[in-house]
Amino acid sequence: MHKILVLHGPNLNLLGTREPEVYGSLTLAEIDERLVAAGEKLGLEIRSFQSNSEGALIDALQEARNWASGVIFNPGGYTHTSVALRDAVTAIGIPVVEVHLSNVYSREEFRQHSMISAACKGKIVGFGWRSYWLALYALREMLAAT
Ligand code: DQA
Repeated sequence: MHKILVLHGPNLNLLGTREPEVYGSLTLAEIDERLVAAGEKLGLEIRSFQSNSEGALIDALQEARNWASGVIFNPGGYTHTSVALRDAVTAIGIPVVEVHLSNVYSREEFRQHSMISAACKGKIVGFGWRSYWLALYALREMLAAT
């Protein structure tokens, strides 16, 4: 059974109350529960982790190399700034799908540049919690084809 890390970056622990008009009303725990349920249907084991700290996110990516077949990653605000996270994504050599709840391209200009995207297998934005869900299906199809 393939194992997938779902990695959530800074401020995503506040989902549910944080700008619900932008990010939706589900809490992070509710999103994770839905992903675990979808994973069960797809035959994927889901392990999720959230941190507000760049270093902890880098550690989680490095550890994923030892146990995961792929990563679904919402780097939050670090998307737009972090060379270190981009380097970690490149270094681990397993497919990473970048996801965003909001459509970053319809928002402020600074959100339209990602430091992370070029290092990722692909990217899904704008579908709320379903961005993660779509990434799960994409990864499953990709892993099945390899
Ligand atoms: C986000 C978009 C980022 O620009 C923002 O800093 C976030 C959330 C999203 O999921 O839409 O924290 O990654």
